[in-house]
Formats: sequence, structure tokens, C-alpha cells
Amino acid sequence: MRVVAIDGPAGSGKSTVARRLASRLELDYLDTGAMYRAVAFAALRRGMDPSDAEPVARMARELEITVEEHCVTVDGVDATIEIRGPEVTRAVSAVAANAGVRAELVRRQREWARQRGGGVIEGRDIGTVVFPDAQLKAYLTARLDVRAARRHQEVADMDYEAVAADMARRDTYDSERQADPLLKASDAVAVDTSDRSVDEIVDDLVARLAAPR
Ligand code: DC
Repeated sequence: MRVVAIDGPAGSGKSTVARRLASRLELDYLDTGAMYRAVAFAALRRGMDPSDAEPVARMARELEITVEEHCVTVDGVDATIEIRGPEVTRAVSAVAANAGVRAELVRRQREWARQRGGGVIEGRDIGTVVFPDAQLKAYLTARLDVRAARRHQEVADMDYEAVAADMARRDTYDSERQADPLLKASDAVAVDTSDRSVDEIVDDLVARLAAPR
């Protein structure tokens, strides 16, 4: 199985790099953040409190989620746009801190890769927890101002200051939570994407994959 793990905080360039790398390597691409967002979306739709751990975990185990490159469905409903909106973005940290939800989504992520013989998988815990034996692990970072500017371009309905504040809040929450906190794996390649082009970064990762370990 050929797995490439791409981890890092929001706005570090994971999705852009992971998508480009997957197409270069002719592997499938999986955005695991979209899966956590899908669970948060479902909890909100059902009027649940996203931090109500046991009911949310139980619901997650029964939820049908499909994540494709440009389409995410939750129990058959197209949630592609809503999962990127401010309500889901606010609720998702609590859902991602839920150990029961994580266990279920990690199981599905491993199954996804097994069925495809691998893939390029992005998230927060891919190299540390989901695929500790990945062929290549990259941990992407960028300066907070660069990350906030990138995210601001994606979410037109929030101003820059709000995006930066929200991002800093989520960074702290994701890094300090008990269940699988955001952490660089000791054998991951650290890549600062602040001042480098996507092509340059992807070329570098492809070269590392080709080099004997
Ligand atoms: O990458 P993103 O912003 O779409 O991720 C949404 C949330 O899910 C974010 O709070 C981090 C969390 N997440 C996680 O805990 N583990 C993953 N493998 C992917 C995302």
C-alpha cells in the first residue's frame, strides 16, 4: 500500500499540495477534514449540541459520508458548500476532539486506503495515528498571516481579522486537545509553504518519495 500523509494546521497549503501530488503520483486523494466537517454538519442539522460526546459519536457511526474531490454528501444530502461555512467551521473543533468520532473516522480512512491500494491523505493525525507506516509524511506549516490570507480568500463572508482570530483559536484547540492532537510525526518532512510555489514543494516531495530511505 502506497500512502502519502500530509498534515499541518489550517491554511498551511495541505489541500493544494496534496491534490497536486496525488495527480502527479496517479493516486487518489482524501481530505479527512471534510469527514470531520460532515459529522459537524449532521450534528447541527439534527439540532444536537456538537460537544455532546456520546450522542454525536453514536450518530457518526451510523452516518453515511462520501468524500470526493469536489463533492461531499452526508446521508445522501449534498453538503459540499455548507461544510465550509462559518457554522460548521465553529462546530467542527468540538467534533474533532471527540474520541468516539475519531475512532470511527480513522477506521473509515484506513478502509478507504485499503480499497485503493493507498492514496494521498491530508489531515492532522495522518502520519502520527492513521498511517504511522506511510511511505512519505509531510508536515506543512506557514506563518499565521500567510495562512489567514489564504483562508480569507476561500471564505468570502468573513473579514480578515475574524479569519485570523478563528484560525488562531482552532490551532490552539487542535494542538491542545487530548484526542490525537495536531503534532508533527518525528519522521515527517517539515515544509514551510509561506514563500515557496506549489510546484516547487510538490517536486521536492516527489523526489523524496523516489529516493531510497
Ligand atoms: O482541515 P479542515 O479545516 O477542513 O479540518 C476541519 C477540522 O477537523 C479542524 O478543526 C481539524 C480537524 N481535523 C482533525 O482533527 N483530524 C483530521 N485528520 C482532519 C481534520
